Amino acid sequence: MTNKYCSVKPALNAGLRQVFIETYGCQMNVNDSEVVLSILQPHGYSLCNSIKEADLILINTCSIRDNAEQRIWGRLDIFRLEKKKRKGVVVGILGCMAERLKEDLLNHTAVDIVAGPDSYRELPQLIASLTGGGKQINTILSQEETYADISPVRMDKNGVSSYISIMRGCNNMCTYCVVPYVRGAERSRDPKSIVKEAEELFGNGYREVTLLGQNVDSYNWVNPENPTEKTDFARLLEMVALIDPKLRVRFSTSHPKDMGDSVLYTMAMYPNICKHVHLPVQSGSDAVLAKMNRKYTRESYLRRVAKIREVLPDCSISTDIITGFCGESEEDHLETLSIMREVGYYTAYMFQYSERPNTKAARHYPDDVPAEVKSRRLSEVIQVHGEISLASNQKDLGKVFEVLVEGYSKRSKAELTGRSSQNKVVVFPAGNHKVGDYVNVKIERCTPATLIGTEIIK
Ligand code: SAH
Ligand code: SF4
Ligand code: F3S
Repeated sequence: MTNKYCSVKPALNAGLRQVFIETYGCQMNVNDSEVVLSILQPHGYSLCNSIKEADLILINTCSIRDNAEQRIWGRLDIFRLEKKKRKGVVVGILGCMAERLKEDLLNHTAVDIVAGPDSYRELPQLIASLTGGGKQINTILSQEETYADISPVRMDKNGVSSYISIMRGCNNMCTYCVVPYVRGAERSRDPKSIVKEAEELFGNGYREVTLLGQNVDSYNWVNPENPTEKTDFARLLEMVALIDPKLRVRFSTSHPKDMGDSVLYTMAMYPNICKHVHLPVQSGSDAVLAKMNRKYTRESYLRRVAKIREVLPDCSISTDIITGFCGESEEDHLETLSIMREVGYYTAYMFQYSERPNTKAARHYPDDVPAEVKSRRLSEVIQVHGEISLASNQKDLGKVFEVLVEGYSKRSKAELTGRSSQNKVVVFPAGNHKVGDYVNVKIERCTPATLIGTEIIK
């Protein structure tokens, strides 16, 4: 039934409103969706599990590669059908694609609201303004917004490990990357709010936090009231590690040009700082790295790796790789394969280069590696990845790792799964253990992706 007050969006006038939030992209987006839920709850929204029950459908989007955006266009078509079936459903598009495409997204029939990553505090206002009839948009990027005071409502499944955003934006301008354009300038969050959030999580039973930033090594908080008071990433890591020895601390992403020794020494000092570094290399070729504007060379990258190994002999290293960047020759590609073997990554995220509009690469360098060559090179990278991750896991046979239990294994309720400090997935017979326990497991078998063992009492 409609009346003159709610004919435009009747669902918004109902008592308790249901919101469905779908998230794409990186962990930061997952965290942002939790911030969004926290902002909406005081306005009468509660989370629901399906678009069919939702009064408000939010989709938090990613622009990192073209295929990420294509998936989202596909979802918008599904939402359009849902809106046809149920009048009054509101659809909001959030995140990086909202920031990149702005008004172009508003023109989609499914979309009522477009909100960029720095405008989530405005969401209740944007929703309220819809009752006036028109669509709403806010894609203003901020120099200051860190959502520091907002406690995200956790949507993770296991209740054991969670993510904390410690900074937003990026100043690095890698030539292929859309992130600086859609997330804006880098800014660091007040360390006190980070520690408070980690303490609350620990108090609620969480046993692991991952500190998130596009380049955590450039975390640098300056107290606005006293500019001589500064906190760098090594100090922040220490502050979080000191909360409790039973709280594991992880972080991502490290930048090879910035990762300083002090971070490594801090990691060495605290057993609860996990011995894992995600150190994206992108390419093994100096020519490609220079064109990507990564600001390190193969040699300086390998020196960083050697330092990690020297200070933290049991530290694992993972990476990101892009195949087929502009001008990448066969020799460049072979250098990527060889650096993978040289470092012996335990795992890697591997992508074909996808040109992003308006980035420096899109403006200046032809996307000249043919699609079939990009994909053949990616398969070769994936093949080497399989070999080196198996080799890395085989080195762990016979070793004992402390595993933080995250849940039951996919195959059986008689087995638990968790991760070692090195971030490797470990599966073992459950015994009397439960989620959130620390268990010492001796490794007996492995696959390229999993270590399998049994508990030992130390
Ligand atoms: N800030 C992090 C990673 C951000 S994006 C860093 O500097 O490493 C995650 C990964 O996506 C990148 O490491 C890169 O490997 C990949 N990526 C980014 N832009 C891409 C593009 N245009 N095409 C293909 N992969 C891309
Ligand atoms: Fe993108 Fe480079 Fe910033 Fe990472 S460091 S987000 S790859 S611009
Ligand atoms: Fe994607 Fe934005 Fe993250 S582009 S990878 S969701 S910062």
